[in-house]
Amino acid sequence: MSNRLPALQRFIDGLRDIWSAEPDIARCMEKAKPLLETLVGDPQLQVRSAEWPSTEGRKNLLLYVDDDYGFAINAVVRVPGRRGSVHDHAHAWVLYGVLHGSESLERYERLDDRSREGYAKVRLTSVSAGVPGKVDLVAPFDIHAEQGGSGRSVAIILRSAKLGDITQNQYDLETGAIRPGPGPTQIPFEITA
Ligand SMILES: [Fe+2]
Repeated sequence: MSNRLPALQRFIDGLRDIWSAEPDIARCMEKAKPLLETLVGDPQLQVRSAEWPSTEGRKNLLLYVDDDYGFAINAVVRVPGRRGSVHDHAHAWVLYGVLHGSESLERYERLDDRSREGYAKVRLTSVSAGVPGKVDLVAPFDIHAEQGGSGRSVAIILRSAKLGDITQNQYDLETGAIRPGPGPTQIPFEITA
């Protein structure tokens, strides 16, 4: 029997219900958004996240991977003022929910014609405030960044596939270089009741 925190277990159970009934992954992620909003609005989880370790150094806490449907639940714990890279998540869909603190969620668009290997001209198109309870849906290959606020911040992430061993791109805004590389290092982490 799992001794998982009930709010997290309810989230997982709800996701499994969605994935079992809906074959389209984009629709699954849309249907999962209100569930993640509920989870990151949970006062008990917000308090508990105060003791989670920093994920500085391109790490993610790995809270759960579903053996049947392949989705993964991560957490990131940012130090104050953390500057995040501009990146995509390759073919994975991502729901990014702020649990504690505040962050800035940046979106970019690609302006070049993709003819030059290893080069992309990208431009910032929007910045939205990430506050506890806010969830952002990021489609495959969407270029974006999550920036830390003035204090420590924590986010819970639902991914349609576990990252870490999938090649993702980072984008250098000054030179236009595209830097492919591995995703965040996955650190298994249990949230018990
Ligand atoms: Fe991201």
